[in-house]
Amino acid sequence: MAFWARISDWWTGRGSDDGPVAIEAGGGTAVAEAESVEVTPIPRVAVASERPAEESSSASCWWRPEGELMVRGPRLDKPVLAGMAGEIEAGVLTALEQALGDPNIELPHLPRIPQQVLMLSRGEATSLREIARLIAQDQVLSADLLRRANSAAYGGLAKVTTVESAVVRLGMRGIRAFMISQSVKHVTLAVGGKAGRSRGESLWRESLASAYVMATVADSINSQSEDAFLAGLLHDIGKVVVLRCCCEVHTKTGQAVPDELFDYLCQEYHELMGEMIAERWQLPPQVGAIIKDHHSEEGLTGEHGTQRALIQMADAVVSLLEYSPRLPYDLFGMPASVFLDLETNTRFQETLVLLPEMLDLAMNSD
Ligand SMILES: [Fe+2]
Ligand SMILES: [Fe+2]
Repeated sequence: MAFWARISDWWTGRGSDDGPVAIEAGGGTAVAEAESVEVTPIPRVAVASERPAEESSSASCWWRPEGELMVRGPRLDKPVLAGMAGEIEAGVLTALEQALGDPNIELPHLPRIPQQVLMLSRGEATSLREIARLIAQDQVLSADLLRRANSAAYGGLAKVTTVESAVVRLGMRGIRAFMISQSVKHVTLAVGGKAGRSRGESLWRESLASAYVMATVADSINSQSEDAFLAGLLHDIGKVVVLRCCCEVHTKTGQAVPDELFDYLCQEYHELMGEMIAERWQLPPQVGAIIKDHHSEEGLTGEHGTQRALIQMADAVVSLLEYSPRLPYDLFGMPASVFLDLETNTRFQETLVLLPEMLDLAMNSD
């Protein structure tokens, strides 16, 4: 099966290990058929050999930028800021240090319904009907779920119009991924208010693109796609705390935090802040551990090395595909790629050819 179909199957819950879907009906339990309509694979992009030669060659070299290449991300120096900018910097630094030092600091929290759904989904006896009932309490979440269940990723399936059938369509894995993704989106876009909206949107776009890239590449190296997708979504969540502190200072002083300062503070603080959020959200402990050291090359050889390598590699891919500022990464020369042995992995090479179109499709279906 083509890798895109496998990722799509994972993302949509088709062919997953969820098994038949148990739904309580009329006091008893019935096994719901997850739509009896024949499953049609989602639209597949043409493979390189099916494309005109010219298009094929241009599509196949996006990962080989010209000029001097870099095998690791840039290390930013502390910007030298004077006058008002210096005062803004001091204000943001104070807010960040307070956030790090205070265990009771209010951190961005998981919205109530997703939090309850995630807790409930851990129970073995939980039925999808219970989950559907919970989600139905939130109109916005319900509408988003219906949109997801009827999106291009499920092309060919009959339109669903109820929360319960949308839950059945996604399955337990799909619902968990959807809840985390909606929560990260909500927190990222809301945390900075109006002042932080555009930075929040960029952060969300990068996180979602990283998640899709990680899931896809994880599949090509026979690693867990679901874990990789969630690590991609969550690895930079600490940046929302930096964003919030910057926006608070902006509101107080009327002065926006310069980009070079925001980027530098993200570099310095986002791993620690991310670990704190993972703990506060009661995510599995390994998620916090991965987030804490995700830029570390030493971390590649330790526990969770594969997840960290996937994150570092996804950062480069997301940049090369311009979902974040473009930098000339040497994709195969990076320590993460060497660690994952990507140069000799033909499935990964196939993945690279299809990735731009696949990502475009995935990003536009969310
Ligand atoms: Fe990061
Ligand atoms: Fe990142």
